[in-house]
Amino acid sequence: MRIAVVHGPNLNLLGTREPEVYGTATLEDVDRGIAALAEALGVEIEAFQSNSEGKILDFLADVRERADGVVINPAGLGHTSVALLDGLLGISRPFVEVHLSNPASREPFRRHSMITPAALGTVAGFGVDSYLSGLRCLHSHLLRQRHQ
Ligand code: DQA
Repeated sequence: MRIAVVHGPNLNLLGTREPEVYGTATLEDVDRGIAALAEALGVEIEAFQSNSEGKILDFLADVRERADGVVINPAGLGHTSVALLDGLLGISRPFVEVHLSNPASREPFRRHSMITPAALGTVAGFGVDSYLSGLRCLHSHLLRQRHQ
């Protein structure tokens, strides 16, 4: 089983970016945590970060052939991007939306996500654990699908 992990814009700044909101773990720390869990689950991970919407869309289209599902932190694009929603719908792979912070408890403009309606589910507010829970849930979902 292979799962793609996508980190949206500005997540390359983790560790120093608003640590009171996003914590002090760097993106490398996040990816290391994901890799450790993936190894325990027997899942292969392909992780990708970009600040460019187009590069994220190209990655999704490209990884479609290799990935059974996607864990995505859309970052700011989640609040604005029809193109990201279309890209995710276009690859026909189940995906879990994750956020480090809990956008629902922040500014009103963060309360809407373009991609939530198409997601299997959303995990938000638990820092790095949001990604790990998202990965566990997607893994279980894909296992169940296989055995159906
Ligand atoms: C975020 C929340 C978004 O509102 C914000 O634009 C981000 C990060 C999070 O992980 O908490 O860039 O997705």
